[in-house]
Amino acid sequence: MRINGRDYRTIWLDADGRRVRVIDQTGLPHRFETRTLASCEDAAEAISAMTVRGAPLIGVTGAYGMALAAWSDPSDAAIESAHAALLATRPTAVNLRWALDRLRALLLPAPVSGRADLAYAEAAKIAEEDVAACQAIGRFGAELIHQARLGEGPVNILTHCNAGWLATVDWGTALAPIYTAARQGAPIHVWVDETRPRNQGASLTAFELLGEDVPHTIIADNAGGHLMQHGLVDLVIVGSDRTTRAGDVCNKIGTYLKALAAHDNGVPFYVALPSSTVDWRIADGVRDIPIEERSAREVTHISGRGADGAPIEIQLTPDGSTARNFGFDVTPSRFVTGLITERGVCPATEEGLRGLFPDLCG
Ligand code: MRU
Repeated sequence: MRINGRDYRTIWLDADGRRVRVIDQTGLPHRFETRTLASCEDAAEAISAMTVRGAPLIGVTGAYGMALAAWSDPSDAAIESAHAALLATRPTAVNLRWALDRLRALLLPAPVSGRADLAYAEAAKIAEEDVAACQAIGRFGAELIHQARLGEGPVNILTHCNAGWLATVDWGTALAPIYTAARQGAPIHVWVDETRPRNQGASLTAFELLGEDVPHTIIADNAGGHLMQHGLVDLVIVGSDRTTRAGDVCNKIGTYLKALAAHDNGVPFYVALPSSTVDWRIADGVRDIPIEERSAREVTHISGRGADGAPIEIQLTPDGSTARNFGFDVTPSRFVTGLITERGVCPATEEGLRGLFPDLCG
């Protein structure tokens, strides 16, 4: 997708074919910089510090982390230790485990001398699969947007967090239908939840939508219910970090409250996700999905750009107050109108997912 008129992906290989380059998302929207990941440790650090983030991109970065490990030491012990180190970086997005397991299962039975090449080829394959899945999600989701257009005005879509191309390799999940429909000529306006505490909506989603010339308005997280009560939201589309086989959806903290408000106001609530985000092992998301708790500093402090243009961080809260920072919540399937996947749109139910993915559900 576009930054200043130039096409980018979020992750790519350096000219040496071994080191990995990523966009440093911690600087956006004010500072565009890339980082080089030269080792598995660099990849693990990039995931835990959220230099890269978003479930699909975390998975692809994990896969390249395994490749970097195999490049440096292709032994069984090194592969196992890379798997463990990368898996420990972020607990909620299941794409990470999915990608790491896929690399480990491929590498361990292979001759040691060929493991590095094999790992890079597989990581590249996962990246390409992610792009194809997101493009397909875009096509299926765009149809829903066209159907939602009733009158002359734009379709008003509310989204939470950043489930755009920055959260994937390209295109995004929740934003892919928006980009596709917009490029097909549909008039669209996006309500962008700021998404406290890290503000991925206000910083990353807004940055993406600007790059694609999609009209949008940033709102405080608590504004969505009010907008829905006044008929100002036609559709909600969000992404997912982990979806159970029964259709419960775990996504950035605050998503559940938007689903409740959408349910109360009869607003369709769709979740866009590639099948790599489905955890086929579990059904009950509230009980079984581990919720990441990050540093309280992300709640007590906020970062941005000062009047002189330099990055600043300021404290919001009184000294002595405690804070907690829950990263994700679970929206039970009964509040989800449908799942937009790379194979089509299905109900958020076990039957719905099994119908589209009979080969994956086990
Ligand atoms: O903590 P983050 O920024 O990694 O969380 C990202 C989200 O919650 C996204 O909505 C989710 O990963 C879906 S992305 C395609």
